[in-house]
Amino acid sequence: MMLRHFISLKYVSAEQINHLIKLTTAIKRKSSTYRKALSGKSIGLLFEKPSLRTKAAFYVGALGLGAGAVYFSPNEVQLGKREAIGDVSHALSRFIDVVVLRTFSHRNILDFAKFSGVPVVNGLSELCHPTQVLADIFTMHELKGKVNKLKVAYIGDGNNVCHSLLYAFSILGGKLYVATPKKYQPNLSVVKEAKQFARVSGAKINFVDSAKKAATQADVLYTDVWTSMGREKEKVLRKKAFKNFQINDTILKKAKANCIVMHCLPAHRGEEITDSVIDGKHSAVFLQAENRLHTAKALLVYLLGAK
Ligand code: CP
Ligand code: NVA
Repeated sequence: MMLRHFISLKYVSAEQINHLIKLTTAIKRKSSTYRKALSGKSIGLLFEKPSLRTKAAFYVGALGLGAGAVYFSPNEVQLGKREAIGDVSHALSRFIDVVVLRTFSHRNILDFAKFSGVPVVNGLSELCHPTQVLADIFTMHELKGKVNKLKVAYIGDGNNVCHSLLYAFSILGGKLYVATPKKYQPNLSVVKEAKQFARVSGAKINFVDSAKKAATQADVLYTDVWTSMGREKEKVLRKKAFKNFQINDTILKKAKANCIVMHCLPAHRGEEITDSVIDGKHSAVFLQAENRLHTAKALLVYLLGAK
């Protein structure tokens, strides 16, 4: 079955994720074949928060497929303030073939999709970040082979990126250790759903309160900022709570000798990750960033039925 939207990985099957990984591999290998795949199409990027990678991936990705792209910056559209979400969605569907939406509230993306005549892609909400994790799965696959044979350790905040990793691994059947401070565990409803998916896929999902425990013999170490966009007021409190949830040389030594280190970026160097690790030989973070482009292209081609 084809996906209409790409809003959360919880609506995506293992087969669909694997198909997108295969399509990404083909596009990355020979991008020239796809140069006109979406000619005559237009992609809309409507962002309520700043972005470097997501904007670049979809904007440059659209151009690389022969499509056009139009970007609406934070405050330009003001979903639900300047205009009702349904009206924005209805109107934009008359101009645009796919909308990539970055919001604070996840509800806004669901509401937007309800009224949309065209596919909607979640370019990050408070709840999840599925296009990021699609690129992460592709990167793990590219560097390490089958992801369900890996031990992956996510260390840090139980946030949107963590939620999408939980969905991905529970659907694909991998082994994921999530280490967070007690007060910053992932959302209970996401955990519940991931456990249900894991029962079907055979995934092993573990929640621990120590970075060392998670990192021991891991193939992949993954972290994200301690304070996500929209939580800036909690920054000082969070800095204290997360001080033992940093990927540094001591944690790196616990993992396998050939492990890779991932971070969705932007990074707060010296907080969740040290310079020595992010700039060190295990770091895959800039390949991971580049892979946002290839996976974004695959997603656009897939959603517009060009392949
Ligand atoms: N990783 C990521 O989504 O980066 P941006 O916020 O810069 O898009
Ligand atoms: N968790 C981070 C991810 C940024 C790409 C945030 O939401 O700010």
